[in-house]
Amino acid sequence: MRTSLPVVLLAICRVVSVVAEDDLPCSVETSPTQIRLAYWGDHGMAVSWNTKHKLARPTVWYAPDVGNHGNNDSLNKKASSDISVTYPTSSTFNNHVVIDGLAPHSSYLYRPQCGNKTYRFTTARSAGKGPSGLKFAMVGDMGTMGPDGLSTEVGTGAANPLQPGDLNTIQSLLAYAGHYDFVWHVGDIAYADSWLKEEKGGYITPLNKTDNGAVYDRILNEFYDEIEPISRSTPYMVGPGNHEANCDNGSDLSICIPGQLNFTGYRAHWKMPGSFSGGVENFWYSWENGPVHFIQFNTETDFANAPDEPGGEGAENAGPFAPSGAQLAWLEKDLAGVDRKKTPWVIVGGHRPWYVSSSPCIECRDAFEPLFLKYGVDLVLHGHKHFYEREAAVGPLGATIQEIDGNPTLPWYIVNGAGGHYDGLDTPAAHVNTSRKVIVEYGWSLFTVHNCTHLTTQFVASKNGSVLDTATLVKDRKCNVAGWN
Ligand SMILES: *[C@@H]1O[C@H](CO)[C@@H](O)[C@H](O)[C@H]1NC(C)=O
Ligand SMILES: *[C@@H]1O[C@H](CO)[C@@H](O)[C@H](O)[C@H]1NC(C)=O
Ligand SMILES: *[C@@H]1O[C@H](CO)[C@@H](O)[C@H](O)[C@H]1NC(C)=O
Ligand SMILES: *[C@@H]1O[C@H](CO)[C@@H](O)[C@H](O)[C@H]1NC(C)=O
Ligand SMILES: *[C@@H]1O[C@H](CO)[C@@H](O)[C@H](O)[C@H]1NC(C)=O
Ligand SMILES: *[C@@H]1O[C@H](CO)[C@@H](O)[C@H](O)[C@H]1NC(C)=O
Ligand SMILES: *[C@@H]1O[C@H](CO)[C@@H](O)[C@H](O)[C@H]1NC(C)=O
Ligand SMILES: *[C@@H]1O[C@H](CO)[C@@H](O)[C@H](O)[C@H]1NC(C)=O
Repeated sequence: MRTSLPVVLLAICRVVSVVAEDDLPCSVETSPTQIRLAYWGDHGMAVSWNTKHKLARPTVWYAPDVGNHGNNDSLNKKASSDISVTYPTSSTFNNHVVIDGLAPHSSYLYRPQCGNKTYRFTTARSAGKGPSGLKFAMVGDMGTMGPDGLSTEVGTGAANPLQPGDLNTIQSLLAYAGHYDFVWHVGDIAYADSWLKEEKGGYITPLNKTDNGAVYDRILNEFYDEIEPISRSTPYMVGPGNHEANCDNGSDLSICIPGQLNFTGYRAHWKMPGSFSGGVENFWYSWENGPVHFIQFNTETDFANAPDEPGGEGAENAGPFAPSGAQLAWLEKDLAGVDRKKTPWVIVGGHRPWYVSSSPCIECRDAFEPLFLKYGVDLVLHGHKHFYEREAAVGPLGATIQEIDGNPTLPWYIVNGAGGHYDGLDTPAAHVNTSRKVIVEYGWSLFTVHNCTHLTTQFVASKNGSVLDTATLVKDRKCNVAGWN
């Protein structure tokens, strides 16, 4: 049963690659779904979408948005690639096209081939350039919403269902769309691996280990459908979390089949600027927007004792994705190359936290903290714990703690894995000396970069949009960033 599926898929691929041409007639098989964007420097945008058929030359039509809203005729430029990929157990092909040669901080209309609708995106500001007003949404551990994910019901072993009338986090992010430049999802993305827990808990179809990954694939597809109203207009930057690593939520690996292992779906679905920034795929990379240098790093694999690697604490049996030492070597090179005159702010994100009230990732701290201290990182964002915990600024191994309104020299830490998925919320184990605010509610974080000295975070409760925490990091520095003071 299990081994027969890849054979079937291979057969389908072969047939499709014969007929799929540039001018393949548009049909439901080639209609773009699950459209998602990612920054590609300040002159580009990666456009990704899924189709039922493989495309021979995935193509995006586009044009500057100069008030010609929705007029297809004006989309007279095209960008193409040959990236249309699938994997065992997947019912779709992932198409990726990078549009290059765009102007910074400019709006474009675009339409993937065979699409019936035109959408709009805005490129990133150049490093060190205005206009001011950069905002971004940050979310962790979000997962699929609805009957196969977080809803007003739970199965055995799960908790914290939504209450009637609550908005879920995807709905809340959508309600705020247009008020942030991009979304940063710091790992644990679709929670398709919860299929096992959901079946064991009697929440969805009875436990069926021989469905060849059909429910896993269904939950993944639902997630990408659900975020599409956001991700087709707003760059959606992602990083790896443990729930991308395999199918089984950390136990009983014998149930996993190939398409569910080793970050396979994660690698296929996204087109983060790894190669653009000298990093690796969607695992570690950087990008800039105005006064900020952003870095996504990987707490799952590719450093000493990484939790998801074979033998690691997470038992996910995944990775590595580069030669030993490559991630940290890249991170140091990237940090050393930041021009703090242009991007005074350095903000990094990685899934597992080490300053937090329950089970810190000590091996992550040991790997990454020395570089964050050495290069004066301003802010470190994490998910993984299913609550919100704002820390102080903190330094070597927790020995020194500074408050964020007093020109801290140490990195400030925020943990927010409260996006809300089938499994529910966590309870912080014990207060730690770095902790400044803990909220156990589904929510996401809105960041505002006011200028080069002030940066504010707000925790938004998904269910009603209330801001439950606000804090501002204040740096005492002189800057000369055009349009930013
Ligand atoms: C754009 O093109 C699609 C398909 O080619 C068509 O269905 C749609 O009506 C067009 N929209 C406009 C505004 O012309
Ligand atoms: C898009 O248009 C095609 C043909 O022009 C049609 O078959 C298809 O149903 C349309 N898709 C949507 C989502 O409207
Ligand atoms: C999923 O992970 C949670 C927390 O790590 C654990 O309590 C639970 O038993 C796991 N479920 C399955 C089905 O492995
Ligand atoms: C499990 O899924 C397979 C494939 O869809 C199906 O043929 C089989 O009947 C299912 N078994 C149960 C017990 O539902
Ligand atoms: C995961 O995939 C990478 C890249 O293909 C490969 O190098 C690595 O060996 C794989 N890890 C496992 C545990 O299979
Ligand atoms: C905070 O607590 C940790 C763990 O108990 C300890 O190692 C550290 O020295 C403390 N930091 C301060 C500033 O008291
Ligand atoms: C920076 O922004 C903060 C918050 O809006 C404001 O109080 C401060 O005056 C600004 N600094 C400059 C130099 O404009
Ligand atoms: C919104 O939800 C939060 C969290 O439960 C609650 O504290 C707050 O009072 C609610 N606000 C409104 C306006 O209902």
